[in-house]
Amino acid sequence: MKIINCQVDHLKNPLGYQITKPDFSYVITDSKAEKQTTARIVIATDQELNNLIFDSGWTNEIDSLGYIANVLLKPRTRYYWTVSARTDLDEEATSAVNWFETGKQHESWEAQWITSKQKTGRHPVFKKQITLTKPLVSARLYICGLGLYEAYLNQERIGNEFLTPYVNDYNSWLQYQTYDVTKQLKRDNELEVILGNGWYKGRFGYEPNSKENRYGDAWELIAEVRLTYADGSTAVIGTDSSWKVHYGPITASSIYDGQQVDMTLADTSEEQVLLSKRTTEKLADRYSTPVTIHEELKPIALIHTPAGETVLDIGQNQAGIFRLHVKESKGTKIRLQFGEILQQGNFYNKNLRTAKQEFVYIADGQEKIIQPAFTYFGYRYVKVEGIPNLKKEDFTACSLYSRLPKTGEVKTGNKKINKLINNVEWGLKSNFIDMPTDCPQRDERMGWTGDAQIFSATASFYRDTYAFYQKYLHDILLEQQQADGRVPSMIPSFGDKATSSVWGDAACIIPWNVYLFSGDKKILADQFPSMKAWVDYIEKIDGDNLGWNKGFHFGNWLALDNKSDVKNDVMGATDVDFIVRVYYLISARLTAKAARILDKKDEAVHYEKLAQKILEYIRDEYYSPNGRCTINTQTALLMTLAFDLVEDKTKIITALAKAFEETGHQFTTGFVGTALLCNTLADNGFEKVAYDLLLNEEYPGWLYEINLGATTVWERWNSVLPTGEISSAGMNSLNHEAYGSIGEFIFRHVAGISPLEEAPGFRKVQIKPLLNWKIRQAEAKYNTAAGPYQIKWILTDSTHVTLSVHVPLGCEALLTLPLAPQDIFTNNSNEIFNQVKDNKCILKPGTYKISYEITEDLHQIFSTNTPIRELFYNKKAKNLLIKNNPNILETSLELREKSLRELSQAYVGSNSEFEKQLDQLDLALKPLNE
Ligand code: BGC
Repeated sequence: MKIINCQVDHLKNPLGYQITKPDFSYVITDSKAEKQTTARIVIATDQELNNLIFDSGWTNEIDSLGYIANVLLKPRTRYYWTVSARTDLDEEATSAVNWFETGKQHESWEAQWITSKQKTGRHPVFKKQITLTKPLVSARLYICGLGLYEAYLNQERIGNEFLTPYVNDYNSWLQYQTYDVTKQLKRDNELEVILGNGWYKGRFGYEPNSKENRYGDAWELIAEVRLTYADGSTAVIGTDSSWKVHYGPITASSIYDGQQVDMTLADTSEEQVLLSKRTTEKLADRYSTPVTIHEELKPIALIHTPAGETVLDIGQNQAGIFRLHVKESKGTKIRLQFGEILQQGNFYNKNLRTAKQEFVYIADGQEKIIQPAFTYFGYRYVKVEGIPNLKKEDFTACSLYSRLPKTGEVKTGNKKINKLINNVEWGLKSNFIDMPTDCPQRDERMGWTGDAQIFSATASFYRDTYAFYQKYLHDILLEQQQADGRVPSMIPSFGDKATSSVWGDAACIIPWNVYLFSGDKKILADQFPSMKAWVDYIEKIDGDNLGWNKGFHFGNWLALDNKSDVKNDVMGATDVDFIVRVYYLISARLTAKAARILDKKDEAVHYEKLAQKILEYIRDEYYSPNGRCTINTQTALLMTLAFDLVEDKTKIITALAKAFEETGHQFTTGFVGTALLCNTLADNGFEKVAYDLLLNEEYPGWLYEINLGATTVWERWNSVLPTGEISSAGMNSLNHEAYGSIGEFIFRHVAGISPLEEAPGFRKVQIKPLLNWKIRQAEAKYNTAAGPYQIKWILTDSTHVTLSVHVPLGCEALLTLPLAPQDIFTNNSNEIFNQVKDNKCILKPGTYKISYEITEDLHQIFSTNTPIRELFYNKKAKNLLIKNNPNILETSLELREKSLRELSQAYVGSNSEFEKQLDQLDLALKPLNE
């Protein structure tokens, strides 16, 4: 037995983070036991754990998903801790010694904010000599630089983070970071800090609110180096008037526009720094997790384009910076431009709109490796000017994103689906640079709340998102505090305070998803004020005359069912009022649930009643007394089912079947509907439709993108036309996180694992894979908060499946055996059937395997023995049927449940002429089964 994944506030050995009461979590592995019986957590101020400040004792109150120790922590203190656990098999194990170190908390700063005379142009480099007088035991640097900073000790980078101090509303709080610089300090040292513009003072913001100097027009720095000597004495070297500043080679920097460096400029002479008037009151311990380089990609091709350009192809659309080997002569101007796609074989960047995304470097004649500091690019292609003998090897793409430990991995037997999974993951990586962004390339890259909430479940399957979202949710709360509970559509809002339904609901949906995936109530406790404030805000606006519906709302953004002929219309056809009401209901429900979990009874009752009132209104307004939905769009029907809007679903299900038949199994959904699409279909008996949509290779569909060479998920279903031409330059990102929400379906239905609300954090799960012949097999390895699950199914032939499942300690899985014959449950020899209820196997921790013959031949889908409904699901099959007999379109939905052979038997009886025709049709259908 082993104890792994020991974390505090969902971070491994955190240094300088905002931790008020430490929240411990861990995972037990390598045990045959069913569960932990008791556990013990100790915290000490020494590594040997002699000076304990906390000892829980052996107790059954410790939950491995989150246990808050009621201790008072001191600032700038390293604490060591272990967890020990015992199981029902009387095993016992203790974790390795872990630590966490507090930041400055609320203690005052001994340093002062300093600034430079120059506010634009060449970027400042602040400097301080530090001499150690005695042997050192430890040293820390506490630092914040505005807009962005990079710190160096003796010319060596401190830490490996980029874009510090990260992005948030700088008027509300300023994050500083803590670095352990003990090993980097020598006797005589030079500490240098370079500042850049970033989000703080560089051009940034959603048009037309984009501007420079939003938060301030000066570069500012505060830093404390705190030394502890071997003799016990301490010293603090803080920023003050003794620091010097000069101006370095960076002449321009911007998140959107890139960076310019002129290495031919001589260093300016050193100047006195100025003391800034800024106080330290807004400085706070960090929440942002580190943005670092996670992948390094080498170009797959060096292209000489028809337009005569030199272009590198990284082979993968992604976001980050690069490293370039330069050896050009002094004064050579090197220019790199970054784009996502080639057009007619040439470099293209018009879809970046006003974002220049370029790096300009004037060489000083020295051979070196260069790398930008204060920007990032969303790119696959790099146009290079100024290096005549460029080689592929000279360039390395460096993908940047926040710390997001990998948790889930799914592989299938279908290459295109695997590629899609990979693309979804790259969309995740590229859009998790400190905040969840819509896209990483054009003049936007904003924390759009709608995109963030839509993608949050998918992201949480692939990665441990707790700490990442915690920071974003904290920012949501702070923005709400300035706006009476309103959640701006972008967080940070960068001056655009407008809100919208579905977008602002991120304040309730994301914390709920984080809770569902982590099983840790702390996120709900932290965010309850935000959830409540959002619902209260809507309630107030709504008043007695439905005021909430009256403002602007994005609705089913980018849906394809808009009948208006305005070119490129972005608003879908689903009644916006309906969407607005339903999302209000969702937020009220989630707030009520959170209140129940947090034992806030009065609030729970209040929001339950509110939710009921909204639901009644929705039912009166949008459903006929006999159960029909008055809004006949795919999205409205999907929402009805997904959010349990009606009691009797029969008519909705019939309408949904019809809606998809009418479009020949094409979807017309936008942001709202697509996030629900395949999951809701699969949850309501339309497994085949869900798979058809996933596997569809024509527009609109995910695999249409794959066939056109996509390496990330696009913003629009037709971002690129079949000719390879980009459909428009206006709002057209090729790396958008929203439609990557299909990743959730891949986990929940292809692999088949879903968290259950009654025991979140994957303590209790549903396992219900959907078999498919075109997928053939799926395997998920999933390190959930509760422990590692594994699921694998493989169709050994079209009528046999082998399924294996591993359930970790302390967990339970409700397994539905896909396409299992009813008599399988009487076969008691396999321990999978130890406990069966309502045709579900209740699995205790352990590993299970079963092979059986399924009730359907998955291969023989397209034949005259197949129900007509199913043939209609496939465009090609449907066309063949119509060609054979155009009247087929007149058949009722009821008759379509029968196969052609059944129908001909029933209506014509034995007729050799007819049978011949059916045989011919079978031959025509056969190629579709390959
Ligand atoms: C963004 C989005 C966002 C939307 C608001 C777009 O420009 O890229 O994805 O949610 O605006 O509707």
